[in-house]
Amino acid sequence: MIIALDGPSAAGKGTLARRLAAHYRLALLDTGLIYRAVGARVLADRGEGGETDRAIEAARKLQPQDLEQPGLREEAVGAMASKVAAIPEVRLHLIDFQRRFAKTPPGHAAGSILDGRDIGTVICPDADVKIFLTASAEARAERRFQELQAAGATTIKARVLADMHERDVRDSARSAAPLVPAADAFQLDTTTLSADQVFDRVVAHIDGRISRRGS
Ligand code: DC
Repeated sequence: MIIALDGPSAAGKGTLARRLAAHYRLALLDTGLIYRAVGARVLADRGEGGETDRAIEAARKLQPQDLEQPGLREEAVGAMASKVAAIPEVRLHLIDFQRRFAKTPPGHAAGSILDGRDIGTVICPDADVKIFLTASAEARAERRFQELQAAGATTIKARVLADMHERDVRDSARSAAPLVPAADAFQLDTTTLSADQVFDRVVAHIDGRISRRGS
């Protein structure tokens, strides 16, 4: 089973993906980490040639262990990830890595779940299940603000909302694999839902699909 889980940042994808992976015994790939690893390399090599060329080179050389380096969740890395993700050649170099994981998941898992922005539309258009989570920009900024505060970062809510808006516009307006729901995705607005409610509704949807397929 391959599950494609897409949506904007802080819509609840990460939490849901981890819970679904445990529930259905699937290998999980957070594809945002791939773009973050490329963004981190571009930031680290600052001053050596153009940003676009450095990003393409970093994408070409990406290794699985690059996703485990510390600091990938930092805001500056996320902002650079969103920039490099708009470069078509960067995305092209990363397609095989993601499809290989989806089709041959590590650790003899029963299948895979990939979360990102273009999994249901570009990476795994034939996924067995496609889910698209959304939430209002205010709710997502509030969640991100709480996460940042819990991690000890000093920031103001208005800044978090502005950064999120900037990232939403870049991720949705780019011409290369923009953030759009697949036509056959199960769409869920999580603005007023708890993590448990989101999980229960998505599991009901997936189990419904599995039983329809089996009958
Ligand atoms: O989900 P995230 O915040 O870790 O993602 C970081 C950036 O990477 C995000 O702004 C857009 C980009 N991204 C993408 O373009 N395609 C994906 N499949 C995953 C992430």
